[in-house]
Amino acid sequence: MTDKIFLKALQGEVLPKPPVWLMRQAGRYLEEYRQVREKAGSFLNLCYAPELAAEVTLQPIRRFGFDASILFADILVVPDALGQKVTFESGEGPRLEPITDLTGLKQLDLALVDEKFNSVAETVRLLRAGLPKETTLIGFCGSPWTVATYMVAGKGTVNQGPARMAAYSDPEFFGQLIDILVEASIDYLSRQVEAGAEVLQLFDSWSGSLPEVEFERWVIEPTARIVSALRTKYPDVPIIGFPRGAGPLYQRYIEAIDVQGVSVDETISASWARDHLQSKVTVQGNVDSFALMAGGDALKAQVEGVMEAWSKGPYVFNLGHGIQQFTPVAHVEQMLKWVRG
Ligand code: CP3
Repeated sequence: MTDKIFLKALQGEVLPKPPVWLMRQAGRYLEEYRQVREKAGSFLNLCYAPELAAEVTLQPIRRFGFDASILFADILVVPDALGQKVTFESGEGPRLEPITDLTGLKQLDLALVDEKFNSVAETVRLLRAGLPKETTLIGFCGSPWTVATYMVAGKGTVNQGPARMAAYSDPEFFGQLIDILVEASIDYLSRQVEAGAEVLQLFDSWSGSLPEVEFERWVIEPTARIVSALRTKYPDVPIIGFPRGAGPLYQRYIEAIDVQGVSVDETISASWARDHLQSKVTVQGNVDSFALMAGGDALKAQVEGVMEAWSKGPYVFNLGHGIQQFTPVAHVEQMLKWVRG
C-alpha cells in the first residue's frame, strides 16, 4: 500500500482529485533553473552533475508541490554515453555526429556507458533522499525510434526524414541501431530503478511520423522488448508509454505493450481516450502546452474538459507535451488551483 497519489492513480485507483505533474516541469520557464543552467556551463554538464541535476529537479517541486518529480536528464544521454558525439548549441537544440550506416555503428559501444549512466543514477539517489515523502520519482528514457531519429539526422528534424529513409533503404543498419538502443535503454532504466526511480516513462516524441506497418516494427516491437525486460526484473514498477502523435494507433500501443499508463498528446480527444484507453490503463495528459502559455479562458476550458472526461476513471493531470519556454509561472499556479480546487 502506498500513500502517494501518483502511484495510486497508476495502480488504477479512481481519486477525488487527480495527481498532477507537467512534462518538462524543470526548465527555462523558471528563473531559478536559468541560474543553475548558467553555472553548469553546457546542458550535458548539467545532466552529469548529480548535485546540480538534483537541484533543478527539485525546483518545480518546491515551487508548485507537484505530485511527481521527473529526473532531470535528457533522452540524448543514451547516444552520448554510447560514444556518439552530442552537443547542445544554445538556441539551436541538439547536434550529433550523424550515424548513417553499419560502419558508423562501430563507434557505439555498450561497454562505454558506465560513467555517464552511473552519474544519472547518482542524481536519482540524491533525489530519493531529498524529495518530500508524498512525491513520486519518475525515471525516463527516450524510446528507440525517437532517439534514433536524432542519431541518424544529427539534429531535430521537422519530419524525421533521414531516419525514415534509413529504415526503408537500409533496414539491416537501422535494425541493428534499434537493437543497440533497446539494450542500452534496459541497462539505463534498470540503473535508475536500482537507484530509486519508482515509475518509468518512455518518451516516443516522433512516433507519429510512421505508417502503421513501420509503427509496429520500430515503435511497438522495440518498446515492448524494453517494457517486458523491465517488467520481469521489476514487476512492481509502473511504466508509462508516450507514443506522441500516434492517433488511433494509441490503442494498438496499449494492447501490445504492458504499460500501466499512457501519456496522451493534445491532438487526442479526451472522450476518445476515455472510451478507448482508460478502461485498460491510466491515462495522463493532455492540456495543450500552448493553452497553458496563453492562459485565461482557453486554458480553463481545456482543464475542465480533461477533468470532466476522465474523472470517472484513473488519470494523471498533465500536458500533451512539454511546457513551453515562455510560459508564465502565474499560469501554472492558476491551473493548479483549477485542478486541485
Ligand atoms: O523536467 C523534465 O521533463 C525532465 C527533463 C527532460 C529534458 N528533456 C530536459 C531538457 C526530459 C524528460 C527531456 C526529454 C526529451 N529531450 C525529449 C522527449 C520529450 C519531448 O520534448 O518531446 C526530447 C525529444 C529531447 C531532446 C531535446 N532536449 C531537444 C530536442 C532539446 C532542444 C529543444 C529545447 O527545448 O531546447 C533538448 C534540450 C532540453 N532538454 C532542455 C531541457 C530543460 C532545454 C535546454 C537548456 O536548458 O538549455
